[in-house]
Amino acid sequence: MTLPGPVDYQQVARPYGDGRALAAGVLAIWRTAVAPHVSSERGNRLGVLDLGAGTGVFARAWAEWYGADVVAVDPALPMLAEASRRGLLAGVRLVGGRAERLPVRDAAVDVAWVSTALHHIGDLDAGAAELRRVLRPDGRLLVRGLFSDFGTVEWLAFFSNPGKALERYPSIQVAIDSLSRNGFALVALEEVAEPSRSTADVAAWLRRMRSADTLLTSFTDQEFSAALAVAERPENRERPVAVRLAFVVLSVV
Ligand SMILES: C[S@@+](CC[C@H](N)C(=O)[O-])C[C@H]1O[C@@H](n2cnc3c(N)ncnc32)[C@H](O)[C@@H]1O
Repeated sequence: MTLPGPVDYQQVARPYGDGRALAAGVLAIWRTAVAPHVSSERGNRLGVLDLGAGTGVFARAWAEWYGADVVAVDPALPMLAEASRRGLLAGVRLVGGRAERLPVRDAAVDVAWVSTALHHIGDLDAGAAELRRVLRPDGRLLVRGLFSDFGTVEWLAFFSNPGKALERYPSIQVAIDSLSRNGFALVALEEVAEPSRSTADVAAWLRRMRSADTLLTSFTDQEFSAALAVAERPENRERPVAVRLAFVVLSVV
């Protein structure tokens, strides 16, 4: 039996990596979303911090999109080991560390990218101050993720009590207030629609990610089984399920 609790990233690197690998179509959408906010005019190679990099799906993408120097930071070394096992491009460096005390020197990066990791930062003010410290004065903080009141995950409707999962995320205002207090100004806030998937695909993904996703580990086994039973009803198989995640863009002040 699985009791509701936080994801243990020390234990779930392999299933997490598999689950993220399914989402290849997502990368093209995010490449388009970030492009207007990334200046490649400077002579030097773009420097990117991928904070909470996990199994490295976006660290790899940033290196490919921009030929960037990427420092991928995560406190869960098994997640970084899995990133390495899956293959990295030249220019990606994996470093153990956490948001509250970044192993990166001052004013070292042009872009700080935080994908579905902001909600894990225990002391968001400390993390925000660190992000501010490592960004260059014309740098951008780009946050992809879910907030308790911003972003849409349609498959949560399979659960009778979806609010329980969303409680694990800060509200957008709490997050923006913390970042503003620590040297950032909001540039843009939008929802980015990721490619929708059939309910059958989502059901397979839910099974794979049961222990590896913050939303899913909020639910008891009973709640999870009841939701799967809904998702796996034959009449639901082909129904499309959408996910729209928040994209928050901040400049340094
Ligand atoms: C949902 S995964 C996201 C991984 C990756 N960014 C992605 O989009 O696939 C969240 C990651 O945040 C990391 N994390 C947890 N606490 C953290 C902290 N305080 N600072 C930085 N990263 C943290 C976890 O170890 C985990 O790898």
